[in-house]
Amino acid sequence: MKQTIQIQYEVLEDYSQLPTQEVELIHKAYEAANNAYSPYSKFNVGATLLLSNNQLISGNNQENCAYPSGLCAERVALFYANANFKEASIKTMVIVSKGNLIKKESVITPCGSCRQVILESEKRQSTPIRIILVSENKSVFIFNSIQDLLPFGFGVE
Ligand code: THU
Repeated sequence: MKQTIQIQYEVLEDYSQLPTQEVELIHKAYEAANNAYSPYSKFNVGATLLLSNNQLISGNNQENCAYPSGLCAERVALFYANANFKEASIKTMVIVSKGNLIKKESVITPCGSCRQVILESEKRQSTPIRIILVSENKSVFIFNSIQDLLPFGFGVE
């Protein structure tokens, strides 16, 4: 029996069409990206979370000369939020990038390991995380849940 999965996501040509609070999140994520430690890839990523207590938490990629020891922006932000604000849930996650690894018109998409960690955060809090992926030319893809970016993700029931 063949099965098909469909995912829905929203595409906007310019993030300034978003509500002011989400534009602010994008600006914060760019601030974070500017402070990334990425001497090896020269690819800067910023991730900003909006928590249920309205706190904003940002992270950026932290590389290391022992390459696998580095960490992506998304997990830096998520682990900080979960370590320090475990009572709060994550409402929204914005991810931005600056650099030549992807085309200016492509949105940054989180790696598989980050998707797995976002999935666990979503399962812990039992509410979906809105995920906003941004390109350098200002277009955005919006997902209503990490489930849409990681179908069949592993999770303990
Ligand atoms: N990176 C992130 O921080 N997030 C992503 O979604 C993709 C990749 C980082 C890891 C590494 O420091 C650099 O970007 C190049 O892969």
